[in-house]
Order: sequence, then C-alpha cells, then structure tokens
Amino acid sequence: MVDLITKKRFAEALDSSEIEWLIDAYVRGAVAPEQMSALLMAVVIQGMDRGEIKALTTAMIASGERMSFSGLGRPAIDKHSTGGVGDKITLPLVPLMASLGVAVPQLSGRGLGHTGGTLDKLESIPGWRAALSNTEMEQVLREVGGVICAAGSGLAPADRAMYALRDVTGTVASVPLIASSIMSKKIAEGADGLVLDVKFGSGAFLASMADARELAETMVRLGQDSGMRTVALLTDMDAPLGRAVGNANEVRESVEVLAGGGPSDVTELTLALAREMLELAGRGDVDPEPALANGTAMDAWRRMILAQGGDPDAPLPVARETETVRAAADGIVQHVDAHKVGVAAWRLGAGRARPGDSVDHAAGVEVLVKPGERVRAGDPLFVAASDNAGRMARGLGLLGEAAEIGGSVPSSRPLIAGRV
Ligand code: URA
Repeated sequence: MVDLITKKRFAEALDSSEIEWLIDAYVRGAVAPEQMSALLMAVVIQGMDRGEIKALTTAMIASGERMSFSGLGRPAIDKHSTGGVGDKITLPLVPLMASLGVAVPQLSGRGLGHTGGTLDKLESIPGWRAALSNTEMEQVLREVGGVICAAGSGLAPADRAMYALRDVTGTVASVPLIASSIMSKKIAEGADGLVLDVKFGSGAFLASMADARELAETMVRLGQDSGMRTVALLTDMDAPLGRAVGNANEVRESVEVLAGGGPSDVTELTLALAREMLELAGRGDVDPEPALANGTAMDAWRRMILAQGGDPDAPLPVARETETVRAAADGIVQHVDAHKVGVAAWRLGAGRARPGDSVDHAAGVEVLVKPGERVRAGDPLFVAASDNAGRMARGLGLLGEAAEIGGSVPSSRPLIAGRV
C-alpha cells in the first residue's frame, strides 16, 4: 500500500491489478483508513487517467452485488444528479416518468453537508418508509412504475466506505473519485439507461463548467463502456433551484410542479430530464408536459407515496418560528449564492453534520428572489424557518450575505448549459 501511495504521489498511473488489489484489500480491512485517505488525497492532487478510472469503477462494482430489472417488461431508466441546493427534481420526475410507462428504479441517499438528500425530503411525509428490501423495491416498481428508496448496503460497499473517508478528509471534489463513486453504484444497479444531471456553480461540488464537462464526459464514457445508454446535461447550480431549500418545503414545491405549477426553473429541468429519459427508453416522440397538467403524474406520485406507507394527504411539518431577511438597499439582484443558502438551510436544521444525525424536516429557507430581479430596500429576500433559536441565528447570519444587490443588470445564465 505504501508503494501505491508513493507511486500516485509522483503522478504515476496505477495498473488494473494494483487497483483491484487496493479496493479488495480495503474492503477486507487489510488497508488502514489512514492509508486509503493518503491515497485518495494523492488522487485528488495528481488525478487518474482513463484506464485507472475504469479499473477503479470496475473494482468498486465488484465489491458488492449487482441488480437487474430485465424481467420488468419495460425499459428501466435511472437518473442521477451530482447534487445541489434546492435540487428536488427526483421527486416530480420519478412519478412523471412512471405515468409515461418508463420504469425508474431510484436508489437515493441522505444529505450530508450543504446539499440535501432525496430520502430526507421524502421522510417529511408522515409514514413514508425509505428502507425497502430488493423484493419490495421490485414490487413497487412493478405496481407503480417508479420507486425511490434507500440503496441497500450490498451495492458497491467499497464506495460507501470510501465516501465516508472522503467526506472528512477534503477529498470529495475530484473528477476521478466522483465519477467512479457515482457510476459504480449506477452500473451495479443495472438500469438500461441513465440520465445524469451534472451541476456546476457555487452550490455544486465542482464550481467550474469545464470541470463539470470533464466529469460528465468521464461518467458518460464509463456508462457506455458498461453497455448502459448514458447521457448528461450540464446544469447551472450557481443560484438555488426553485424557491424551497430544506425538506418538507421541497416536497411541497414538488407537489406544486406535479399539479402543473411550481417555479419555472424546477419545471424546466424536470421536463428536460424527462425528455432525455424518454429518448433513452426509445419513446422520444412522447411529450411529457401534458402529464404534469392533466394530473396523471400526480396520480403516480400518490400511488408511489402510498406504496411505501406514506400518506400523500397528511399535512407536512411546519416550523414554529420564521424570520424574514430583507434587502438593505434598492437595486438589482446580482447573485444569489447557492452555497450560502445551502449552508444556511443546513445550519437551520435541514441537514446533518454527521451520518446518523436526525434532520429537522420543517427547517429550511424560502428563496424569494432570483438574479436579475429588481428590489426595493426592505423587500423580503429570504424566509428562514427553524424551531431552535441558536440555529435560527446561525442561519440568518449566512442569509444576510447570500444575496448581492447592485446597480447593473447581470448577464443571464441559461439553466441548461450543455449536453454530453
Ligand atoms: N455523489 C456520489 O455518490 N459520490 C460522489 O463522490 C459525489 C457525489
């Protein structure tokens, strides 16, 4: 292991047998976490070539079980976002696709740090259960057409252990490590196709579009090499997506989208990803938009929530206290910093500091302005919600700096900036 760390430290490529040994030995406990951490940091600094990334992904897949949805009788198409602030797209997208006859087996995670987790959001619905056995998952997929549940511990266990280390050693933001982490889980899951939403900007893991493009190209290549049809959209995550950032408030906003309303950016991205998924399923002639307007996607949502023990009609949690952050001067909103809003929601209680912590489903932020909008001094910019006075103070401190007001009209940034 020391030889491998030293090799990577001096920017030499590791060969496939070394990578295979490394992952297997780490999962068996023969490589110490501090050694793996040193190697991961060397990878962050020196990178990996295509052959190494492919070998790493293959070894991570081989560390666990592989699933298959070939018996479903219809195409199974998955979606994955690299994570963002206010990114609740999975919630309206999965029932929308189910209502159009495309099966979506969505294994999701919990939030850690400032980016939220789909399971935390759905757990604000009273009774809803994230943990399903593989048999239960297939049953919901057959009956409803779409399922969102927790990934079992059998899928790419090497990634699970490595991700926990990366999270506490500053080694998350690396194209080879993010690509192999995401794609090992997605390939092991065994869908026929995959649409990736690769985000860039202040609220994403990778700030620059060039890095996001490199990540997208790397993941698309890994998917296609494994026989899974894969495409990626490059999307802007500089400002929060939609108005709601938190858990229960993001479910509320998703239901608005399923009812044919909701913020235009959330609807635009939901429909763009739906079109890509339909194309991969061989149904590129279908327009997904009417299913949001005519209630069929909402029917699929209700069936999906009920199938996992949730009550789609139950009131969602609301915080006892809210505070409004107001504009200090007249002007035009130059920038709404997704990272600051995400960290504010986290501080307010919507996120967790350590795996296993509980989250406050009612805590979060309503973002009332978008870049380019005019405001007057005293106009509301954000509403913070929390039940805890200490958390409220910490969240408000960050929100006070999250919107920049200026005199000029900022250049507009398209939400969907590219496709790979
Ligand atoms: N999501 C993952 O699953 N892995 C990463 O490395 C980053 C985001």
